[in-house]
Amino acid sequence: MSANRTIEQTNTAAKPCYLLAIETSCDETSAAVVEQGTIIRSNIVSSQMETHRRFGGVVPEVASRKHVETMTRMIEEALAEANVRPDELSAIAVTHGPGLVGSLLVGMVAAKALAVALDLPLIGVHHIAGHIYANQLVQPLQYPLISLVVSGGHTEIVHVEREGCFRILGQTRDDAVGEAFDKVARALQLPYPGGPHIDRLAGEAEQAITLPRAWLEPGSYDFSFSGLKSAVLAALNQAKMKGIPLEAAHVARGFQESAVEVLVEKAIRAANETGAKQLLLAGGVAANRGLRQALTARCEEEGIPLLIPPLDLCTDNAAMIGAAAYLKYTRGQFDSLELKAQALLSLEEWSVG
Ligand code: KG4
Ligand code: ZN
Repeated sequence: MSANRTIEQTNTAAKPCYLLAIETSCDETSAAVVEQGTIIRSNIVSSQMETHRRFGGVVPEVASRKHVETMTRMIEEALAEANVRPDELSAIAVTHGPGLVGSLLVGMVAAKALAVALDLPLIGVHHIAGHIYANQLVQPLQYPLISLVVSGGHTEIVHVEREGCFRILGQTRDDAVGEAFDKVARALQLPYPGGPHIDRLAGEAEQAITLPRAWLEPGSYDFSFSGLKSAVLAALNQAKMKGIPLEAAHVARGFQESAVEVLVEKAIRAANETGAKQLLLAGGVAANRGLRQALTARCEEEGIPLLIPPLDLCTDNAAMIGAAAYLKYTRGQFDSLELKAQALLSLEEWSVG
């Protein structure tokens, strides 16, 4: 199999492009079949959440082992549900970073084995490009656009000037926002992953404790969430020492409001300053109802078209990897079997156009 194979050799006019995509960067084992980069033929996800819950977080060795146990079944189910035969596939796409290296390796070995066995091109995909292009599975994208990427490992404002060309305007200087949600949840003794529990409690709360907003220097698009997390811990400790413990719901709402306000205002400013035609929300924390509501309201006020994927496309899944892989497929940018799993991988360098 050659990495230099051209698109003409792999895509005849009559044949639709079916990409088999694989995602194993963290604790979801997923395989999907995506047609023409936009149509989900199947998207099978097996979450390891139950396994990791008792440890209070993802245990990398356990995650790798679970991926090994589940991967083959996910691929079989994805092909069966898509009703696509292996010989109808156009290429194999796989997340090669960033993520847990042991987890990434399992998906990559599966993808490479399929590429060799079926004599198909291999396409390595950046996980965050996947989160951003999950939106393309919902509606066509218009450039330039801004994507607010909010997940357990990333918090970034990404400027996509044209298709597949990524520039990071700002990012977290410490904790990712999902990580901050999970740490605050742990302090409130909520189960892992805590983000959805904070979201639920915040929605039920009638009051919120007052917490700071980390705006950083004027004009900066960067974020910082560790100070906010420390402020929550300090408030909890002080209340405990006074013998009047805080209501978990009030803490959850105060924390969520602080995190959401900074995320929303910086994303809106980035969209206005770059003349973005669309603002895209991406990543697991895009499931947060407070964030979705606040961003929707501000985008309406500012007249900025907002795209938010449905919940199952916000959290890790392989269909989003198939959507991003199509960028490379149409440009004939294939990878060799030397492709490496990379715990750290630059989104800007991954740009295809
Ligand atoms: O994108 P994702 O599935 O995995 C990573 O690539 O990190 O994001 C997982 C993160 C976790 O931190 C989880 O707590 C958070 O997304 N999350 C939420 C919500 N649902 C998931 N955070 C806040 N509110 C939610 N509803
Ligand atoms: Zn993710």
